[in-house]
Amino acid sequence: MNKIQKLVEEHVGFLIVFTFLVISVGLLVEVIPLMFSKTVTEPAPGVEPYTPLQLAGRDVYIKEGCYNCHSQMIRPFRAETERYGHYSVAGESVYDHPFQWGSKRTGPDLAREGGLRSDTWHRMHLIDPRQTTPGSNMPAFPWLEKNKLNPEDVVASMKALRKVGVPYTDDDIKQATLSADEGGEVDGKTEMDALIAYLQGLGLALKNVR
Ligand code: HEC
Repeated sequence: MNKIQKLVEEHVGFLIVFTFLVISVGLLVEVIPLMFSKTVTEPAPGVEPYTPLQLAGRDVYIKEGCYNCHSQMIRPFRAETERYGHYSVAGESVYDHPFQWGSKRTGPDLAREGGLRSDTWHRMHLIDPRQTTPGSNMPAFPWLEKNKLNPEDVVASMKALRKVGVPYTDDDIKQATLSADEGGEVDGKTEMDALIAYLQGLGLALKNVR
């Protein structure tokens, strides 16, 4: 044993090889089985790919940096599940590229925000958080109400996600380009509408599971 230790401590090449071996074992036993586990790679029951409008809202969420203050990851601790609901499971994030788990909670976790507040509440809150929540230090996002969505951006997002495995069909993608008269979701909508649609869909699959 002493000999091996001496070898490793005196020859940096061996140190590198041994370090690499130790980390590889960690990788093998922790990461590789997860790649083949259905609970991680398949959607949890009730989890669907985002609709075009929700997806546009998710892009607004990322663009505006909401993740800098909000996590979307309820940890399996009593204090968290009492406050936010069922802890987050991996199968809820399979269509999220990149995921929005986050690690900073200046504001509350949003993993189960869907259905918690009305659309009107969200609109007022995003235009000026102090209107609904006196003393809030969340920034206001009034411009979201003025910025119209561009269907082409939504189509590009959907195509990119399809490449990484989100099962959007051609019809799903076409829906993003339809006019409002033809039942299109995106036509004429603002970034605010999209963001609210996204927030209202968050975490619904396990919403009522306790
Ligand atoms: C600088 C930090 C910060 C940023 C950036 C931020 N928030 Fe917040 N957010 C907060 C704080 C603090 C609260 C709690 C007070 C309140 O409700 O306004 C909050 C509350 C919320 C709530 C209410 C949750 C609930 O039901 O009680 C929602 C929804 C929300 N934020 C969404 C967003 C979205 C969407 C964005 C990006 C457009 C965003 N936030 C950006 C700090 C932030």
